[in-house]
Amino acid sequence: MSPASQFSDPLLGALLHARQVVAFTGAGISAESGVPTFRGPGSIWEKFKPEELASMDAFMRNPALVWEWYAHRKTIIAAVQPNPGHVALARMEGLFPRFTLVTQNIDNLHRRAGSVRLHELHGNIERSYCTRCGKICPDVVIAERGQVPLCPACGGIVRPDVVWFGEMLPEDEWEASVTAAEGADVFLSIGTSAVVYPAASLPLMAKQRGAFLVEVNTEPTPMTRSADEFLCGPSGTILPALYETVTGRRAKTND
Ligand code: APR
Repeated sequence: MSPASQFSDPLLGALLHARQVVAFTGAGISAESGVPTFRGPGSIWEKFKPEELASMDAFMRNPALVWEWYAHRKTIIAAVQPNPGHVALARMEGLFPRFTLVTQNIDNLHRRAGSVRLHELHGNIERSYCTRCGKICPDVVIAERGQVPLCPACGGIVRPDVVWFGEMLPEDEWEASVTAAEGADVFLSIGTSAVVYPAASLPLMAKQRGAFLVEVNTEPTPMTRSADEFLCGPSGTILPALYETVTGRRAKTND
């Protein structure tokens, strides 16, 4: 099936006339790169309890165990590449007058794919900071099991710069994401189960303000019934096809 035929006229019309487009991504966009998702068969929360690894209590109880888990995830992420879905979103920055990418992912794959207009709601696994003085500590390497990195400035315990359950989202990233969602003409929700708040409130926030809401997922989610368009399939296939189709339609219009 040619790419253009898989997209409806209302969707293409909304994109071709859009001033502001927002893409909102979850773990599903990185699945085709080989990064495990959090929910569903073989996912992270099937093997581990979030409260044991992704909370401040867990970290204060056993920082070595939490660091061991993040070191394992960093190893997985260092070995993978951005996939065509990440690349298509990076290219979309030049396709619309205003394009904003909001991600829940901490895997840094959007940045590696070239995305610049990016808000990271849940932090970034490549960044760490001191729990005592707040100093940003780049390139933390966990050389052996049981090791806990200490701040070179004050000796405090260093933690991953990721948002754990029960923690507030980074205010500036959240505010910018809400502003973008409220001004969106088209809001693309991609590869997320849409069950973790407050991030999951962004798609409906956009829709309530009149955005054309598109969901890209391999299966329906609690948000699917609210979407104007549900594109069922892998984002690594759908997003490049969507980019090519809009680019092609633009070229025809300009001829
Ligand atoms: N293309 C599109 N969607 C996909 C693909 C794919 N190739 N593979 C999986 N998916 C979908 C799944 O169907 C699922 O709906 O991606 C979604 C992944 O959902 P989750 O694993 O729940 O990940 P996410 O929505 O990002 O979780 C939100 O929860 O654990 C916290 O902080 C963590 O940021 C994370 C948040």
